Amino acid sequence: MQSRYFTLNDHPKGLPTTDLFTLEHTDLTPLQEGEVRIRNTWLSVDPYMRGRMDGVTTYIEPFQLGQPLDGAAVGEIIESRDARLKVGDKVRHMGGWRDIAQLPAEQVEALPEFDVPDQAYLGVLGMPGTTAWVGLNIIAQMQEGDNVLVSAASGAVGSLAVQLAKAKGGTVVGIAGDQKKLDWLESIGVKAVSYKGKDAKQLSEDLKQACPEGFDVYYENVGGACLEAALNNLRVGARIAVCGMISRYNDEGPSSGPANLAMLLVRRARMEGFIVFEHWQHHNDFLNEVAPKIAKGEIDYQETVAEGLEQTPDAFLQLFSGKNQGKMLIKL
Ligand SMILES: NC(=O)c1ccc[n+]([C@@H]2O[C@H](COP(=O)([O-])OP(=O)(O)OC[C@H]3O[C@@H](n4cnc5c(N)ncnc54)[C@H](OP(=O)(O)O)[C@@H]3O)[C@@H](O)[C@H]2O)c1
Repeated sequence: MQSRYFTLNDHPKGLPTTDLFTLEHTDLTPLQEGEVRIRNTWLSVDPYMRGRMDGVTTYIEPFQLGQPLDGAAVGEIIESRDARLKVGDKVRHMGGWRDIAQLPAEQVEALPEFDVPDQAYLGVLGMPGTTAWVGLNIIAQMQEGDNVLVSAASGAVGSLAVQLAKAKGGTVVGIAGDQKKLDWLESIGVKAVSYKGKDAKQLSEDLKQACPEGFDVYYENVGGACLEAALNNLRVGARIAVCGMISRYNDEGPSSGPANLAMLLVRRARMEGFIVFEHWQHHNDFLNEVAPKIAKGEIDYQETVAEGLEQTPDAFLQLFSGKNQGKMLIKL
């Protein structure tokens, strides 16, 4: 049996282009004891993968040029030499960017049994959902009634963050790119502010209008003008959970910092970065709280789906032009 997979043939400079990715194939070797073979049904592409393309170790190892790329995926076991996992089991693992994955069973987990579609375990109930929960509850220590600002608010992480924040009662404001996303945010009771075509000063004024009392929590996904505008609108004692800074991931030179970092001092605020995998001990608490709400339709999660393995690089690149609403997925 063959596996088709993508490799990266050079480190991108700035925004990657599709010609940096090559679709290759290989004959799979017979399964070793303890290994499983999986037919992937859904692949995840995520912004953090951009950092892995630069060839430097950050909080995660870089992708190796010419080697299969990886990432989160769900699929079905089609062959097993492991006592725990059997043919037909649905699983999640990191052998993405390919159609057939062959992995040690210890790197593969069976999908939990909530009444949700399989692909939810890559998005709202997967790493992005856990990130939203951890950022709000553990890093920002969000309290009932807090006013919360979220950037990239209609994306995979942001769209759950706004809904978790909304459930705790304060004013929630979401920053997003296009009208469809702003309309969706308004439809779930979130005040929506566009960042497009605005500098930090203009965005700051728009945030002030949306929430004149200021924010207790800023859930940071974007950086740049969003961060600067948020810093101008903090309440005393505010907490900023730095989840990501996607507006900077394709910068070719040093990124300029916010001109108003002193607002942390003025507002006696705290700003803390985090990586979700270092907080994975909370994943089950998150699942038990959020999965039943997803199953009952109490949380509105969105997906943008590309079809076919060949579409994986395009789907990844579209994260940087905001083509996705909710989780960006590839259906195989
Ligand atoms: N710390 C962690 O452990 C962790 C884990 C997961 C994700 N993250 C971070 O969380 C953030 C969101 O990730 P996600 O998976 O949920 O992605 P996502 O929000 O589903 O997709 C990315 C979104 O970012 C927005 N965006 C892209 N370029 C932008 C720019 N230059 N300026 C402003 N907005 C821009 C786009 O929405 P618009 O149309 O609104 O522009 C796009 O849809 C990313 O920064 C990611 O790196 C961190």
